[in-house]
Amino acid sequence: MSKITFSTIPNGILTGTLRVPGDKSMSHRSIILGSIAKGTTQVSGFLNGEDCIATMNAFRAMGVEIQQKSPTLLSIIGVGMNGLKAPKTDLDMGNSGTAMRLMTGLLVGQTFDSTLIGDKSLSTRPMNRITKPLTKMGAEIKTEENGRPPLRIKGDRKLQAIDYTLPIASAQVKSAVLLAGLYANDETRVTEPGITRDHSERMLRGFSYEVITSGDNGEHIRLQGGKSLQACDIDVPADISSAAFFMVAASIAEGSDLTLEHVGVNPTRTGVIDILKLMGADITLSNQHEVGGEPVADIRIRSAKLNGINIPEALVPLAIDEFPVIFIAAVCATGETVLSGAEELRVKESDRIQVMADGLANCGIQTQVKPDGIVIQGSQAEGLTQGTVDSHGDHRIAMAFAVAGLRAAGEITIKDCANVNTSFPDFVKLASGVGLGISEV
Ligand code: S3P
Repeated sequence: MSKITFSTIPNGILTGTLRVPGDKSMSHRSIILGSIAKGTTQVSGFLNGEDCIATMNAFRAMGVEIQQKSPTLLSIIGVGMNGLKAPKTDLDMGNSGTAMRLMTGLLVGQTFDSTLIGDKSLSTRPMNRITKPLTKMGAEIKTEENGRPPLRIKGDRKLQAIDYTLPIASAQVKSAVLLAGLYANDETRVTEPGITRDHSERMLRGFSYEVITSGDNGEHIRLQGGKSLQACDIDVPADISSAAFFMVAASIAEGSDLTLEHVGVNPTRTGVIDILKLMGADITLSNQHEVGGEPVADIRIRSAKLNGINIPEALVPLAIDEFPVIFIAAVCATGETVLSGAEELRVKESDRIQVMADGLANCGIQTQVKPDGIVIQGSQAEGLTQGTVDSHGDHRIAMAFAVAGLRAAGEITIKDCANVNTSFPDFVKLASGVGLGISEV
């Protein structure tokens, strides 16, 4: 159990420029695809956080040589579609749901057996959402009760392509099915009920693997199994999910003017920008260009008076990881903010609706919790008191309360913060560098 505690100091002003660490989703995928490609893949901008390191260690355990030339620069010597070797031990995915779900999709197509394990939080998270479609494809996966990890995967199964409509909007489930589809005997088809991040599709194309999307919103995705991936170079942009903490921080801290550099602005990820703009945030994008098939931009945020909104449900999957900090923006806004259709937040690294509501209550802010969302009365920033918050080992809860500390009447003490290293190494240093009052105690 983590002993790391954060302590905040109010009234900071955020200024200057900052490049936050690399995108977590793309970093995982660069290792997975680089490992099964033919040739050497160079990755720059890699997120050297614990989640992606878990994925890297898993591939090393399966015989892939991955050279880490600097924390953010990798050379992956691909072994080809069928070159992975049986791991000698269980593969530990740590805190990472993405790693476990994507790896399962890949591992069901291998000739060897494997077992995926995770930490306390991951061991409680639902995996039947992936075991169900993968079993339809012919995979054999044993889980604990109610589809919880560990996952025991039987190798050497013949996979059948399926045509699968996702019951929930989840990029992890979509990606698991597509990765299994690489090893299936026909064309795998997936239909999404709402648009989710499309990094798997884009990166597969970058590795010269054909993926076809169709439908009005690109909701039908298909690929033919049995082809091969060719190595390529990948430049991972800064993670918009990490940038989001600073977008809210600079918005709510009067006098702030901050620029975030080289942030990934893939339209399947920019819900946080749309939501904050609807709330009245002053956010401008410049220097927009594409890097390796992914759009990037510099993002300038100046402090602004925010107003409460009804968050459009269509934006929920596009901002799914950013809600903890969006709740902080809502606390500092004028008027009510209502979130609905976000029950997925309850099965993330923690139950993010309840854990945020509990933490806010400890800092003097009452909210109304709903099964699928929350109602937050604005104009409460003045009521944000000092307090002690338990992050429940959830990185994004910890960083959201670090941002709340800017507007609190006194110090916020945030407990159980070690997992900030899963997605944002050096958070305290980088955040303090641009004016957020925070220290590790
Ligand atoms: C991710 C997808 C999202 C997100 C997670 C990363 C991915 O999960 O919450 O942090 O890289 O595919 P779901 O697709 O399950 O919503």
